[in-house]
Amino acid sequence: MTKRDFLATDEWSDEAILALLAHAARLKRGEASGSLAGKVLAMIFFDPSLRTRTSFEVAMLRHGGHAVCLEPGKGSWAIETRPGAVMDGDTVEHLVEAARVLGRYADALGVRSFPRAATWAEARRDEVVRGFAAHAGVPVINFESARRHPCQGLADALTLQEKLGEPKGKRFVLTWAWHPKALPTAVPVSAAIDAARLGMEVTIAHPPGFELDADDMAAIEAVAARNGGTVKVTHDIDEAIAGADAVYAKSWGSLACFGNPSAEAEVRAPFRSWRVDEARMGATRGGQGIFMHCLPVRRNVIVTDGVLDGPWSVVTDQAENRLHAQRALLLDLLGGLS
Ligand code: CP
Repeated sequence: MTKRDFLATDEWSDEAILALLAHAARLKRGEASGSLAGKVLAMIFFDPSLRTRTSFEVAMLRHGGHAVCLEPGKGSWAIETRPGAVMDGDTVEHLVEAARVLGRYADALGVRSFPRAATWAEARRDEVVRGFAAHAGVPVINFESARRHPCQGLADALTLQEKLGEPKGKRFVLTWAWHPKALPTAVPVSAAIDAARLGMEVTIAHPPGFELDADDMAAIEAVAARNGGTVKVTHDIDEAIAGADAVYAKSWGSLACFGNPSAEAEVRAPFRSWRVDEARMGATRGGQGIFMHCLPVRRNVIVTDGVLDGPWSVVTDQAENRLHAQRALLLDLLGGLS
């Protein structure tokens, strides 16, 4: 039987994702259970994490399994990820052996690897997480790569279902926000895909020069078209937020300047006012739209204290939903659903 990886939600069918979300909601309410007894998840973090690491470890523990965490270069060997590399530098173990060996020890692998390539053309191939998937022999879960953060997308969709009742036809606004560094596009793309899958009217607001990858936009539009949603792009944050049911703030770097931080910072500099504050949330539908962010978030840069600590914010529930969505995912992938 072919193994199933979870590398991008848009690589799974709408039916499979909607079933996962329904199961996650039942698990959260205590109406379903399942066993991962004796199962092991090996987690490989090339980059830091609070939520992904902890929620996967807790999910395994809650269902009787175990998670092992590796941080290459910190207590485990530095891993070479480039295919065909002549390994006469600092890396002592190749991704191919690491994936094959970990696949013999564990029932599933999770891999976090942010973009490191010099160009977007290279980074967009997500070669690290896809390399582990090619060589592990067991299911691989994308813990966030250059292109996708599918577990975050699941939790975002679960939160939209919980908070909005029936999200279909409601307005989901993904707004770019200023941040001191160029961040990956994985979270905004994944959030938009999963909001579109719920049949929402998706508006993506960003300054000129911050266009998402054309294939990723096509993926969002394809999911929307299948599910009765719509997708619109604007360069006006206030026009976007007016009347929104959900405002999801996220920064991302200009792909046109990928690999050139000083040029990218110059493109970003004029847009410091792209920040979500109380006045902007007051302009949402009835002043009662929800505020979403994947976390970690820089307070008073991306969003004000008043929004995060006010009635609009659902960011803690959103983070909690990582746990329930991933419980459903692990039980599905590892055959423990009951
Ligand atoms: N949202 C998210 O993935 O959080 P971490 O980076 O802390 O895992």
